[in-house]
Amino acid sequence: MDDNDSAEELTRQCYIDQFRMTVPDRYAQLCLGKTMPALKDGQKRHWAKIKDAISKNWDSYIYGPSGVGKTVVAILAGRLIAHRCRKVRFESASKLCRELHESFNNNLTANEIQYLFSAEMLVLDDVDKMHFTKLSVKFLHELVEHRTSELKPTITTSNLSPGELIEELGRQHGTPIISRLVATPTVVIKMDGEDLRLEHDNHV
Ligand SMILES: Nc1ncnc2c1ncn2[C@@H]1O[C@H](COP(=O)(O)OP(=O)(O)OP(=O)(O)O)[C@@H](O)[C@H]1O
Ligand SMILES: [Mg+2]
Repeated sequence: MDDNDSAEELTRQCYIDQFRMTVPDRYAQLCLGKTMPALKDGQKRHWAKIKDAISKNWDSYIYGPSGVGKTVVAILAGRLIAHRCRKVRFESASKLCRELHESFNNNLTANEIQYLFSAEMLVLDDVDKMHFTKLSVKFLHELVEHRTSELKPTITTSNLSPGELIEELGRQHGTPIISRLVATPTVVIKMDGEDLRLEHDNHV
């Protein structure tokens, strides 16, 4: 390895480390170590499609039952982008909602939230777990509108299909958000399989 190679490797590592800071520890340990974990069957089936979406700068919407490995696969996709020296950020939709309401109640503009607009790739996890209030729905609309018009891709995970999420959000608000999330070039993936959480996260 010459000096150029090692400088490049160091830069890549910086982008991965920045991404890691936004990812919950248990996922960071599994997904952002030196080597990528082996994909499970349910994940393998969709990995080529996800990688293709990434290379085309498209959005991905991954949905399916709990524990099938959606969040893991979304973070691994983020890892690929960070490895290409692009800013990636992970955000859990329920945490985002909490932060939004806290900053609104305290009359603050949360700096953290601004990163969601500017990140070159956003992993928006568990969008259906967001507490849908007037404020959060308005914010989600602005975020999705901004990111799609700036051609900044988002990988969204959810237990609900796009149609079910529209129902959950209410047609008036849901349709404009979801149509942006899935009507710009988007790969929509239904992931199923075993509940990996039961298999791996053994509780005594
Ligand atoms: N490729 C993998 N290798 C090892 N463990 C894995 C892998 N993929 C998933 N897991 C394990 O399975 C668990 C569930 O995965 P994950 O959290 O991605 O599921 P999910 O589909 O996002 O579930 P939910 O809908 O509840 O959010 C993880 O906590 C992890 O321990
Ligand atoms: Mg998940």
